Amino acid sequence: MTKISDTQISDAQKSGSQELLKSIVNYWDAKGLCSLESSTSLKNKYIASFENFIESRLLSDILVEYCQYNRKNDTHIGLDVGAGLGRFSVVLARHLKSVYAIEPAPRLYTKLKDRCKDIPEINVSNASFESFTPPEMVDVTVVSGVLYLYNDEMISHFMAKLCSHLQPGGIVIIRDFIVPGEIRKIKSSYVKEAYCYYRNPDYWRNVAEQQNMDLIQIFRSVPLYNLFVSKIIAFFRLNRLYSLSFVKEQAYAKISKARQERDNLRTERVNTVFITLVKKAS
Ligand SMILES: C[S@@+](CC[C@H](N)C(=O)[O-])C[C@H]1O[C@@H](n2cnc3c(N)ncnc32)[C@H](O)[C@@H]1O
Repeated sequence: MTKISDTQISDAQKSGSQELLKSIVNYWDAKGLCSLESSTSLKNKYIASFENFIESRLLSDILVEYCQYNRKNDTHIGLDVGAGLGRFSVVLARHLKSVYAIEPAPRLYTKLKDRCKDIPEINVSNASFESFTPPEMVDVTVVSGVLYLYNDEMISHFMAKLCSHLQPGGIVIIRDFIVPGEIRKIKSSYVKEAYCYYRNPDYWRNVAEQQNMDLIQIFRSVPLYNLFVSKIIAFFRLNRLYSLSFVKEQAYAKISKARQERDNLRTERVNTVFITLVKKAS
């Protein structure tokens, strides 16, 4: 993977990346997200809500740990890049002094703005990260469901910018899809001219090193479903099971334990994960 700066990126690459970014944002704008709790246009709303419960709890855990370790009289600033309908912006707002939530897709932005209108901690902008300058240095950044559609050059560019606006000791929480072995690049079936990149832990370690960051942890953020059981549940239309409190609590407890024990990613399947990175002090 190459490390590039703004001046190194050729005009052709730049316009190619800009076109790709446009296609990605247009896709999300046209399709929307399947519910307020979902990061995707496709998922069943019960499963989306189930997964959002677990992921929001895990994100809260990370934020509590971060705030306990970095006491600054509750002045931490957050950034949610590609906030969608704000499911993680609202979690950030519970723990931080203020949060910038940016979303370039106009229709999602309108809904995001509406959802956040009574949450004074959240400042919403209709912008891509590439065109946005945070008004102050940031302590915590969340990037969820964005980078798997980016090629390597876009990631380098994106991460360099992210890092330049991050306080030393600040953290980046990336929610992405990874595989334990070889990186997989698969033509996207929904975004024109795009590929889905299922990267591996080594890739993200490399990114961290290039940006003077430490990779703290990669851990699964949603359960690994048993495919046979999932098919039975779907066939008998039992998806409401996912909305039962004890089912959600059990799943959260299991994933949280796996996170503590660093017992992760033993499967060859694509894993939905949180990747936490911290910017080194110097
Ligand atoms: C899959 S959705 C995820 C939404 C939300 N983060 C979540 O997890 O529920 C990805 C969002 O990222 C936005 N996005 C993609 N590239 C972006 C960029 N460079 N800057 C800001 N937002 C971006 C898209 O418009 C889309 O709304």
